[in-house]
Amino acid sequence: ALSGFTVMAETYVVGTSAGFPPFEYIQDGEVVGFDIDLMRAIGESQGFDIEITDISFDSLIPGLQAGTIDIVAAGMTITEQRAQVVDFTDPYYSANQAVLVKEDSGHNVTVLFGDNRLAVQTGTTGDLWVEEHLQDTGILTGNVTHFDTFVLAVQDLINENVQAVVLDTPVAQRYAAENPVEMIAELVTGEEYGLAVARGNTELLDKLNAGLQDVIESGVMDELLAKHF
Ligand code: ARG
Repeated sequence: ALSGFTVMAETYVVGTSAGFPPFEYIQDGEVVGFDIDLMRAIGESQGFDIEITDISFDSLIPGLQAGTIDIVAAGMTITEQRAQVVDFTDPYYSANQAVLVKEDSGHNVTVLFGDNRLAVQTGTTGDLWVEEHLQDTGILTGNVTHFDTFVLAVQDLINENVQAVVLDTPVAQRYAAENPVEMIAELVTGEEYGLAVARGNTELLDKLNAGLQDVIESGVMDELLAKHF
């Protein structure tokens, strides 16, 4: 009989977009966060390894389509539009959008109106929300700056180049805890995050859903939530 074999585990390329703490952010030159730990736990459960690649948020879905990445783990909201081009797992986190302003600026929710300047991350649900509800309706006439990362958007806010940033609530809270910025309003959008794979990749999708379920049932999910939130 044959012996001494080690079956090499499959390695999947996981695309993310850091600057979205506590889900994915850079610490000591490394991409860390809840999504990264979640992917590692799912990989452990399902017997695969992962390799993280950090790219701009609006390149993630094209990356899945081009086959340069296998999985998106980026706090990505499951939307109807995205679900037409990629396949999502079961949801793993719920969030809304939030309005972040500079600390002590005295701004309230009217900061979203008139000639105020806002910042968003390109291609996010916050970007779309601002376009649909504020720009297309003419409520907002000021400029909206599109950034590749929220790190840059929040920096622009601190520098007073924009009056507000629209981003996911848990991430707004984390930025507010660590920077001279504050969250002044929550926009109840009722979003749910999912992991995404290329459309039709049911083999991988099934593994991810089985892994998610295992991570939840084993209590690992609660440990990760306690660690990161
Ligand atoms: N949940 C929002 C969306 O899906 C924002 C996600 C941004 N994620 C990131 N890793 N920067 O559009």
